[in-house]
Amino acid sequence: MLEDISKILFTEDEIKARVTELGRQISEDFKGEDIVVIGLLKGCFIFIADLMRAIDANVAVDFMLVSSYGAGVVSSGEIKVRKDYSIDIEGKNVLVIDDILDTGRTLAFVKDYLMVKSPKTIKLCTLLDKPERRTSKVSVDYVGFSVPDEFVVGYGLDYDEKYRNLPYIGVLRPEAYT
Ligand code: PRP
Repeated sequence: MLEDISKILFTEDEIKARVTELGRQISEDFKGEDIVVIGLLKGCFIFIADLMRAIDANVAVDFMLVSSYGAGVVSSGEIKVRKDYSIDIEGKNVLVIDDILDTGRTLAFVKDYLMVKSPKTIKLCTLLDKPERRTSKVSVDYVGFSVPDEFVVGYGLDYDEKYRNLPYIGVLRPEAYT
């Protein structure tokens, strides 16, 4: 798989160090209060597994699968909840975790979607942020790394369901997806 990667952006060690920092920051901010972590599938699954273990608090975990795409590759513009969370979040501290923030539509939608269930607090966390691509106004509380507008894969992020298992985050060569 390495031959499909043009550049490594973040090594396994760099990711580990940043995730540890994020976990420490989250632990301090929540001051030992219980947290319900809601991960957005599928890309978050590796990040969430590592981040949870870096948080010093009682953490419950649940997942949602939301998608703005229909059967094709062109965005339909409408976000659909394909798998919902099931933990009761009323009065709880909710931390939504995603792998990458691109246009911002997904996190903006999920925040509004969860707000109506009256959580005590709701915070957003993304491992990667592509600020150049933002079209929706969304304020994120925790960001692992800012990345340029390139096709990034690894550590949970895919192209056509491949490369999620790379232990690092890299840029995919255009030849691999054209
Ligand atoms: C990616 C990513 C975010 C979303 C971000 O999901 O995991 O959820 O896109 O894009 P946005 O900021 O433009 O809304 P994707 O649909 O690729 O699914 P995956 O997590 O299963 O790879």
